[in-house]
Amino acid sequence: MQKNQTKTFTSAFEQEVYEGLTSFPKHLSSKYFYDEIGDKLFQDIMAMPEYYLTNREYEILETNKTSIAALLSQNGEPFSLFELGAGDGKKTKILLRYLVNNDFDFDYRPIDISQNALDQLEQSLKQEIPQLEINTLQGTYFDTLRDIDKVNGRKKVILFLGSNIGNLLHEPAIEFLKNLRDSINEGDLILMGFDQKKNPQTILDAYNDKTGITEAFNKNILARINRELDGNFVLDNFLHWEVYDPETGTAKSFLVSKEHQEVSIESLQLQIRLKKWETIHTEISQKYDDATVEWLAEQSGLQIVTEFADSQNQYKNYVFKK
Ligand code: AVI
Repeated sequence: MQKNQTKTFTSAFEQEVYEGLTSFPKHLSSKYFYDEIGDKLFQDIMAMPEYYLTNREYEILETNKTSIAALLSQNGEPFSLFELGAGDGKKTKILLRYLVNNDFDFDYRPIDISQNALDQLEQSLKQEIPQLEINTLQGTYFDTLRDIDKVNGRKKVILFLGSNIGNLLHEPAIEFLKNLRDSINEGDLILMGFDQKKNPQTILDAYNDKTGITEAFNKNILARINRELDGNFVLDNFLHWEVYDPETGTAKSFLVSKEHQEVSIESLQLQIRLKKWETIHTEISQKYDDATVEWLAEQSGLQIVTEFADSQNQYKNYVFKK
């Protein structure tokens, strides 16, 4: 049970929806995009030609798997490979296959909020890489960080791919990185993906595809409020709108009300009004350059060990240590 000053809520989702839709300007958190429908839409996004991030990171892992594996397992020591927000593991499988085929001594510990995603991943890994030792962990990143902390004695490597860090503003990103730092020991490593600043049009196209998949993904948060909190949002009354600021590197997603409208959310006993062209901010997808990543590392007490870039310099994976 969670409370704000006047209301009682039965979940963080209820509370954040209430607070976000009664704030000015209105906002909702992108972490609520991901239910079963949202997970599927995100998989469709990763398969779109416009969403270059997936292929760029895939290329980095494929090209550098030998050096990455050597780095992660320094001196052939046994290690546990944790992955935060593992999703369908498509990119991770490149590394996993290489590690297994070359007899590295490790186990794989994917972490996800969704048990459904973990079950599917475990099933596909058992078929595709049967020799892999896998232990799934269901939970939020922060619960999981505590679990990571408990694995004593074995070297830890943490994967955080897909530029997921970019869904956090800089301050929460630093907080997150500090928590990661506190959960590892000397000698442990973090391998993290950071989408890079690039031609602004390429970024806008990635987040505003003509087929409307990203629009459906963005609007899934309203659909979810309708399904789970008994809301009556009319999805067609909103535009999906993407902006990118090439100076700060911040891409932002909005839902823009096409008309004056009233919406009720029964579970929250909430009626809200949206003026014509009023916005609901839903997501940020931060793009980086070296100076920004160096600054984030410094602020959170991490050191950059090395970095890997794709052939077009659109995306980078950095390796950090404590
Ligand atoms: C999960 N995350 C890194 C994606 C991104 O690029 O911000 C989510 C996404 N939003 C729209 N398209 C993809």
